[in-house]
Amino acid sequence: MIILKTIAATQQFIVAEKQTGKTIGFVPTMGALHAGHISLVQQAKSETNLVVVSIFVNPTQFNDPKDLEKYPVTIEADTEKLIAAGVDVLFLPSVAEMYPNAASRQMDYDLGYIDTVLEAAARPGHFKGVALVVKKLLDIVTPHKLYMGQKDYQQLQVVRKLIADFDLDIELVSCPIIREPDGLAMSSRNVRLTDEYRIAATELSKALFHLKKDIANQTLPAARATAQHHLNSHPLIDVVYLEIVNGHALVPINHVNEATNIAALLAAKVGGVHLLDNIILKP
Ligand code: PAJ
Repeated sequence: MIILKTIAATQQFIVAEKQTGKTIGFVPTMGALHAGHISLVQQAKSETNLVVVSIFVNPTQFNDPKDLEKYPVTIEADTEKLIAAGVDVLFLPSVAEMYPNAASRQMDYDLGYIDTVLEAAARPGHFKGVALVVKKLLDIVTPHKLYMGQKDYQQLQVVRKLIADFDLDIELVSCPIIREPDGLAMSSRNVRLTDEYRIAATELSKALFHLKKDIANQTLPAARATAQHHLNSHPLIDVVYLEIVNGHALVPINHVNEATNIAALLAAKVGGVHLLDNIILKP
């Protein structure tokens, strides 16, 4: 695996590789890698000739400076995991490389409705920062295929819109959520959960699995209310939102036959940690 820290070196390397006819698969990350990230790498490896992973803890997507400060950095362990997974290139830029000046932190791009609801409402400015860094990374890496996790469902829709709005010739591949054996969706933030909260956190996926069963014989609002009530009754869990939406547009829906791509999206604070989970109710 080669490690490249500058934009220029990365662009040069990729242009040369593309000239030999290779297809490029790209997995953007913020490091603190776990099996969820590695599953994206494996999928990329099985479908493209050259796999590029980026690790960049992007300051512009953290609306809470304390969250940025606490974000785990484990670059040595990450590097070993990427080598073991057979990654070809690690792009590891500094903040100064990605954001050399104030102007480089701005992008005049409006994501519209999807940047006003759910995670966007809970974390103002977050998706503007995600869109900015993903656009920069895509311009540098110019992949054929981009691999992202269904775990961050709204982020996936943000990137889907970004690719469409900028007419980028990139295929977005949505990869399934990888979970711990007890159902908790893997996340770099899980290491911040103390024992008691780690146990409480398993209620999130349990509530979603129940919700999926319940919609066989309940209306969507009734099933949603049952799940919300179950979570609200837990003393260590603060639900931020639980919504059933049309998956691409993220518009709330009340009837299963209103749309395809129906998903239930959940965010909760558990021991001060902002956790996300979701489940597809109708593909
Ligand atoms: P990060 O949280 O590091 O996640 C990198 C990728 O891994 C994302 O596409 C995310 O959805 C995926 N992922 C995380 N946990 C997963 C799990 N349990 N199962 C499957 N995939 C999982 O998301 C970001 O970084 C950043 O916002 C980024 C897109 C890199 C922009 O800075």
